[in-house]
Amino acid sequence: MKEVQILATGSYVPDRIVTNDELATVIDTNDEWIKTRTGIGERRITTGENTSSIAAKAALKALENSSIKPLDIDLIIVATTTPDCYTPSTACIVQDIIGAANATCFDISAACSGFIYALNIAYQFIKNGTKKNALIIGAETLSKILDWNDRSICVLFGDGAGAAILGCGEEKGLIQIYTGSDGKGANLLKCNAVPIDINNKKLKEKIPQNADNEGYHYLSMEGREIFKFAVKAMGETIKTLLSSSGLTIDDIKYIVPHQANLRIIDYMIKKLKVDKKKFYTNLQYYGNTSAASIPIALDQMNREGLLEKGDKILLVGFGGGLTWGGTIIEWTIDKQISS
Ligand code: UT7
Repeated sequence: MKEVQILATGSYVPDRIVTNDELATVIDTNDEWIKTRTGIGERRITTGENTSSIAAKAALKALENSSIKPLDIDLIIVATTTPDCYTPSTACIVQDIIGAANATCFDISAACSGFIYALNIAYQFIKNGTKKNALIIGAETLSKILDWNDRSICVLFGDGAGAAILGCGEEKGLIQIYTGSDGKGANLLKCNAVPIDINNKKLKEKIPQNADNEGYHYLSMEGREIFKFAVKAMGETIKTLLSSSGLTIDDIKYIVPHQANLRIIDYMIKKLKVDKKKFYTNLQYYGNTSAASIPIALDQMNREGLLEKGDKILLVGFGGGLTWGGTIIEWTIDKQISS
């Protein structure tokens, strides 16, 4: 049976850089607090482009880096917490922008684990022969759901998109995938949709639920609880992936974690007793871009020439839902992709 491989990667972040110092001019925060608590130095913020637009730019870069044409793509999955609309899906909008008329398209909602979930879904489609070439994208414009007056949350996130094209080949690519969820923690990291009664004006007096809608659609997070969950979920995911694939941590060249907080990553480095260099980080420059963080990092590593054919890398994510998951990939792309 054919193996499922990553054929190419791409990413796009908005040009506008917002540094911690710039944030400190508009809210009561400072570079020192943000850096010591999170490791974040700056983030990219969209100046008008919506999620579909940045997702399509990342997708086009991945296509440029492959021999696949848009019409060869038969599946597009966008993982996002910040779609353009409730409907259509962001994936359908991306399909139209990039001219992938032969694709089946849909979005998935798994917060910061979204890219791993999308990878898992695409893997199943390709492995069972239903689809041939899948474009999976993690894309977020989180800036539109942040309360820019709430310093405890707005300093943490950024906008961006990362993409990967999956297809089949002879060599082993995706070795192992694992995902999990726990809806009991749903309220720990949350962004509400439109309240149920907001447009039912005639019924509003009869059903006065959600009377106060102020701030209802902003992202909210129990930071300390999420921190505890994050280290537990990452540890368990790494352990499960290694034991189910018969590998040890020494077999893994790089771990590409969800880029949420350097302290979480440092904790994992200590727990696993591994060299700091085994964990790739770029959150210093982009903040937490949720579903986009892992594919942006992966594309950056690919472009920097860090990944060589045969390297085993482990991607691991966690986030709202609660959700978590990871994958071990044997890299099959010949070293160094440009652009
Ligand atoms: O992808 C989703 C995954 N999310 C995460 O992984 C986030 C996990 N959690 C975290 O990373 C940390 O909990 C945070 C970075 C969010 C917060 O760090 P913390 O050490 O848990 O800080 P805290 O929320 O307990 O706040 C400590 C203090 C408070 O002041 P007092 O009450 O001690 O006087 C806050 O008001 O820091 C204050 N504070 C700030 N000060 C300056 C909170 N935000 C800021 C800020 N600037 N931006």
